[in-house]
Amino acid sequence: MTGFLFVAKDLPSSWWICAGLVVAFLIFHTFTVPSHLRHLPRVPIFPLLISYLSGEVEDVRIKRLILPYANERGEGLVLVWALGRWMIHILDYKLAAQMSDNMNLFPKELPPDGLLLWRFIGGSNVLMANGDKWRKHSRVIRDAFGLPIPVDLFTSLAKNLFAVISPPSSPSDSHTVDFSELAQRFALDAVGSSVLGHDFDAIRTESLFVREYNGIMHDIANPIYLIAPWLERIVPRKEVVNRMDSLVDKFKQLLQAKKDEPGDDMMTLMLKDPEMSDEELRDNMVVLFIAGHDTSAGGLSTLIYFLATHPEIQEAAREEVLRVLGPTADPSVGTLSATSLPYLNACIREALRINTPISYIVPRAPINGVTLGKYYIPPNTSLIYNIYAVHHNDSVWGDPKAFRPARFLEKGTPRAAMVKDAWVPFATGPRQCPARNFALYEQRALAVMLLREYEWSLPENSIHKNGLRNAFSPFALTLPHDLHITFTKKKH
Ligand code: HEM
Repeated sequence: MTGFLFVAKDLPSSWWICAGLVVAFLIFHTFTVPSHLRHLPRVPIFPLLISYLSGEVEDVRIKRLILPYANERGEGLVLVWALGRWMIHILDYKLAAQMSDNMNLFPKELPPDGLLLWRFIGGSNVLMANGDKWRKHSRVIRDAFGLPIPVDLFTSLAKNLFAVISPPSSPSDSHTVDFSELAQRFALDAVGSSVLGHDFDAIRTESLFVREYNGIMHDIANPIYLIAPWLERIVPRKEVVNRMDSLVDKFKQLLQAKKDEPGDDMMTLMLKDPEMSDEELRDNMVVLFIAGHDTSAGGLSTLIYFLATHPEIQEAAREEVLRVLGPTADPSVGTLSATSLPYLNACIREALRINTPISYIVPRAPINGVTLGKYYIPPNTSLIYNIYAVHHNDSVWGDPKAFRPARFLEKGTPRAAMVKDAWVPFATGPRQCPARNFALYEQRALAVMLLREYEWSLPENSIHKNGLRNAFSPFALTLPHDLHITFTKKKH
């Protein structure tokens, strides 16, 4: 330290001036709105920076800073600084639909250099590709989701979950478990067995695969690197990169195992496609793994939380389930459909609205300048569909903070039409989630099984007593964390 002070003291003052100018330029360059975007409304930078540095979660930032700013000024889109640059967040569902419906005018943006998440996901997959490449991936993935919905698998996984919630060896009727963690394990087994063709057995055992994945996602989310992604080039995180590469290698091994031993899963179907290379299959596998389990787990945890805090809604959903399925019959595609269980379906839709698992989509960037509503969008500007904000817009929902499934049962009114168009947890347009039906059946299957087996509530000391709290996620995931739930076995 003394040595450093000695050296610093001896540096010529011109050196200090240069260093100061470089730092000033870097700060100016990083935080100033580029001249071609200055005509657009922007959320002030300082509150945003404080929000990022304090580790505020995305949903709180949207409700506290972004939505009020846009609503006060009547704006349908605003500039928001994130991940080292200014991006446009679209908060109006009609403007967002205009963008989503036209994927040629608004292709997905090439990810910024160096961001570790993109290195992990890879570029040759359905999530990141554009144009003809996307069409090829999308055809294969959508064909795979055309396979029958694996309701029997969801049911047997729910039974595995019962054995963890209330172990047969335990004499007690009531058990408190971390449901957010169990939901992740359930969703992983669901996507593992039916989509990837690999049984992680995550509900019954502690999966090393999952531990490695969670560790990597945690490290990728280091706030300093999120604020200044270029640091990745100056101070590369070799250790994280090595772990990431080793996990990607494990996906390669899963793929090889699938080739050697085909099954009746979606990956086996994709492997038969002559147009898909090994690299493309592996990248799609990583995408399906990431897109397929955290999202569903977030939706399930949110549903269980709101049913716990609204016992009358939980009871109404249970009555419907018992009326349609009786106390013991295993669910089927028919009995689990949205028309068979309209009230439960409305609860699931409301949970996916109020705490939408993906708060915003991968950015789009128009190649040429375009007009969106009253706004001119210059070429190559990052555009984000802020789904969470659309789901919390007062003018559409009236009471966006209230958990009110009945809003989805209204028919034939202007508000019902608006609600239909503004409910977009799976996004809209040709690039909306190809697994929408799969995910909704998965949610209904587990909800049905839990409603017949247990009643549940929040324990007294829950951190969610004053409202649902989500984990910090820099990748737009809205996932409740440490959601402990007390399940009490129902007497049949
Ligand atoms: C409740 C659960 C789910 C929600 C809320 C959800 C939501 C979304 C959203 C919003 C998108 C658009 C992303 C974008 O354009 O940037 C998307 C895309 C996608 N989702 Fe889902 N998803 C869910 C479950 C799943 C599952 C279970 C899988 C697979 C097993 C899956 C696979 C995909 C894929 C492959 C895409 C990319 C589609 C494309 O770009 O053409 N999702 N999802």
